[in-house]
Amino acid sequence: MEMTLRDLHEADVKGKAVLLRADFNVPLKDGEVAEDFRIRKTLPTVNWLRDQGARVAIVSHLGRPKGKKVPELSLRPVAERLSHLLGAQVPLLGDCIGNEVKRTVEGLGPGEVVLLENVRFHPGEEANDADFARALAEPFDLFVNDAFAVCHRAHASTVGVTQYLPAYAGFLLQEEIKVLSKLRESPERPYYLLIGGKKAKDKLGVLEELLPVVDGILIGGGAAFTFLKAKGYEIGRSVLEEELLEKVKGIAERAYRNGVLLLLPRDVVAARELSDSADTVIVPADRIPPDMMGLDIGPETVRIFSEKLKEAATVVWAGPMGAFEYKPFSRGTEAIARALAEAPGFTVVGGGETGEAVIALGLEEKFDHLSTGGGATLAFLQGKPMPALEPLMA
Ligand code: 3PG
Repeated sequence: MEMTLRDLHEADVKGKAVLLRADFNVPLKDGEVAEDFRIRKTLPTVNWLRDQGARVAIVSHLGRPKGKKVPELSLRPVAERLSHLLGAQVPLLGDCIGNEVKRTVEGLGPGEVVLLENVRFHPGEEANDADFARALAEPFDLFVNDAFAVCHRAHASTVGVTQYLPAYAGFLLQEEIKVLSKLRESPERPYYLLIGGKKAKDKLGVLEELLPVVDGILIGGGAAFTFLKAKGYEIGRSVLEEELLEKVKGIAERAYRNGVLLLLPRDVVAARELSDSADTVIVPADRIPPDMMGLDIGPETVRIFSEKLKEAATVVWAGPMGAFEYKPFSRGTEAIARALAEAPGFTVVGGGETGEAVIALGLEEKFDHLSTGGGATLAFLQGKPMPALEPLMA
């Protein structure tokens, strides 16, 4: 079923005070934005609002401050990067509700933009508290949601505010929904799911839900070791989620019964320690030495996975193939990213760490869709409820 959201193009925003929910939950390093993909992807909406003469305040979360003011999670670095990208000064206000916000928004000229401080500094945000949502909405005429990455959360700034303001979907949100809906409703086949990441736990939901839909599942990263163990393999000190063993066995059996190809690593890069200077060996995936852990997929696995991915008409990739933030264990993720970048099928990358890896390799443009969502992308593809989309339905 096609999902139609209220399109921002249809809103009359001229001279209006607009509250724009963005997801500027970006990685920081040494007090600066380390990677600005999510900010860049929001620019079309921000620029359109500016061109139309709206007066814009952007609200976002950053990290998980749990309802308290955490200075390290201030959006200041984001305000700086946004100012740079827009070529216009974007002041950061000290809070997201209260008199300063009201006064500033009243005084904004057409096309001017301010950024509100981290909305998760208030406990009312994650509690979707009605009073907090009302306070957030108060200075504004209209609400625009462009924060796809947080649409699986029913928070005050994604759901609550829509009780008090007419709500529209921004352009990034619309683009994400368009691409991911196509994937959910009518993917081209064969359709392969490439799963990685630190833990199987984070990916079991998506595996179970998509198993009946896909033609093949390829598993790398830390997530693979519980699957390897379930086959009775020796995995040494590799990450094992013991409590998931039975579930994982069940998934493997279901895949077999449904005729879904399930590919696990054939070889792995193993080491005694997870560090930039670790000594590594390549070992078969069923014989990892007892004092070692598997930390990346090996070259034979890269070859097998790459071949398979070339055959796919659709690939969704979520989760790095190894501990790619450490040089000795980055090759698998890098090689798979390069193989997928050249693959002829429709390639979609779930955000978060996988997106970061792709961007760091300069391959952003080579994928058909690099999603800004991490958890949200997987939730959407599984058909889970997306509470922040409900109030935007046309
Ligand atoms: C994300 O990075 O996936 C989104 O910003 C949501 O963040 P959260 O998982 O802390 O809600």
